[in-house]
Amino acid sequence: MADKLQVVNLSHTFEGESSENVLDGLSLNVADGEFVTLIGPSGSGKSTIFNIIGGLIEPESGDIYIDGKRANGTRGNISYLPQQDSLLPWRTVEDNVVLVQEINGSVDRGAARKLLERAGLAGYESARPDTLSGGMRQRVAFIRALLSPQDLMLLDEPFGALDELTRLDMQDWLLGMWEADRRSVLFITHSIEEALYLSDRILILSDKPARIIREITVPFKRPRQHDITLDDEFARLKREIYGLLKAGFRND
Ligand SMILES: Nc1ncnc2c1ncn2[C@@H]1O[C@H](COP(=O)(O)OP(=O)(O)OP(=O)(O)O)[C@@H](O)[C@H]1O
Ligand SMILES: [Mg+2]
Repeated sequence: MADKLQVVNLSHTFEGESSENVLDGLSLNVADGEFVTLIGPSGSGKSTIFNIIGGLIEPESGDIYIDGKRANGTRGNISYLPQQDSLLPWRTVEDNVVLVQEINGSVDRGAARKLLERAGLAGYESARPDTLSGGMRQRVAFIRALLSPQDLMLLDEPFGALDELTRLDMQDWLLGMWEADRRSVLFITHSIEEALYLSDRILILSDKPARIIREITVPFKRPRQHDITLDDEFARLKREIYGLLKAGFRND
């Protein structure tokens, strides 16, 4: 399968009072229609990788290719849900959700309202983001990313602020949509179960500068249901990933 996204030899240092080498020669790829998850310690550089792919940070060195074309520093190629939800406070929920469609010139408010309802946000279409809870804001930002037309999605801990039941429901919802149109997804989570449930492949990162310490191809067939979490193989992989993260693979 062709690669949707290639990240080649990415290095980045944040200069400040103390300069911080966050990425040092990191490479990864996402095939067309593949669901790939990054899991790794807090502060290892995951969101920085996303910011570079999204064109928000120019990397010190290395290259980003989307559909084979060099995309360093270019925005608008991807549907990006950043870790901080980035909702515009002066727009209503519904107007936030259709923002990217607006920029792309075709707004479907009916679809937007259906998704908001599906996410338990019916009745909040006209609310301002600062009147919502963190989890509600996260769901609004997630819907905005779903409604973006780009076929590469970067989702940075989209379900981090949700209660367990809502989180499981949103996972199934994401999988259902993903099965329907198989966009390419690069996903970040701290939940090992979430990574195993959703992904085709999991990349386990070291502490910064982030290296890929293990790549796991998830063997479960699709469509998936939550009962795979009871599978022996699921438990084995969960232990393996937990062990790798616990061992830390610290670079210092
Ligand atoms: N704009 C910035 N300026 C300076 N340092 C930064 C900046 N953004 C991130 N860093 C530093 O880079 C390192 C990696 O940050 P990053 O946000 O990529 O981590 P992360 O893996 O996403 O962590 P988490 O799991 O907690 O979200 C951290 O040490 C952070 O302090
Ligand atoms: Mg992060």
